[in-house]
Amino acid sequence: MTPGTIRFHDLFQEPDTFLPEVLEGLGASPKHIAPKFFYDAAGSRLFEEICDLPEYYLTRTEMGILTERAAEITALIGPDCLLIELGSGNSRKVRLLLEALRPAAYLAMDISRDHLLGAARLLAADYPWLEVHAACVDYTHRFTLPFGPEGTRRIAFFPGSSIGNFEPQDTVGFLRDVGRALQPDGALLVGVDLKKDPQVLHAAYNDSRGVTARFNLNLLARINRELGGGFVLDDFRHSAFYDTAQGRIEMHLVSQGAQTVRVAGQCFRFAGGETIHTENSYKYGLGEFQDLARMAGLHPVRAWTDSRELFSVHYLSAAPA
Ligand code: AVJ
Repeated sequence: MTPGTIRFHDLFQEPDTFLPEVLEGLGASPKHIAPKFFYDAAGSRLFEEICDLPEYYLTRTEMGILTERAAEITALIGPDCLLIELGSGNSRKVRLLLEALRPAAYLAMDISRDHLLGAARLLAADYPWLEVHAACVDYTHRFTLPFGPEGTRRIAFFPGSSIGNFEPQDTVGFLRDVGRALQPDGALLVGVDLKKDPQVLHAAYNDSRGVTARFNLNLLARINRELGGGFVLDDFRHSAFYDTAQGRIEMHLVSQGAQTVRVAGQCFRFAGGETIHTENSYKYGLGEFQDLARMAGLHPVRAWTDSRELFSVHYLSAAPA
């Protein structure tokens, strides 16, 4: 492969399920739309803005851990692996590992096709020695690899606490699928947001600049743009709160009054105060997450946190030690 180029795999290109999933979710009770639909071009940009917010400690803290522990992480992984990133987005975090890690190849996987391709091209240009692959996939459905170079150790990288979007029981199923794809000797490096002071969590999802609110409301704007929806954005309000019992942030869009909204020719009735549930973001204690990993047949090798214990990075081996 020529340096600076990428190989794009549309082998597993997913069918577009935005319309059927929106119609199903708005017809259901309680109403819901999956968080993976946040990430159209506008949503991906807003998410990057969130990552730089003073209240949103997650990105900054995880990048600090990866920077500080790059040598240790690299020593555990070893050289010449196939590095597979799930939900690679702008591929910013992997850059913290590439020079030290020197993988044989990097495979970026993301649901947002244009964002994925742009980021993969930039990465390939910045790391001419690196073989870069990109695959547009919805990893929430089923985790499979678009190609599998034999004899290369597979390392999955899943940063950002995106794993918190899964329900705990689905997390186990997902980790099991990932573990299978990493056989016989691979490992998973995964970022997980920790349980902490609810006020810190609340602020991270209710930022003072209202970026998270715009990110949440962009879902309605996207339905209007792509599905001919009739949402009036001013008639909905962003809501995010921490549910201590469930250990999760919930995000909702709250209808400001009784109203009917048309989407793709169908009418959906909202009572005043009724919500569309748009996201769960689970938070886990260190041991709690390791227990889920063990249930999925993975083997916790190491976990790192920052000094304030805001965020964690786990190294889970697919093979018994
Ligand atoms: C990308 C799922 C990790 O839950 O913190 C940020 C998404 N939602 N602000 C998170 C998100 C609202 C983010 N994840």
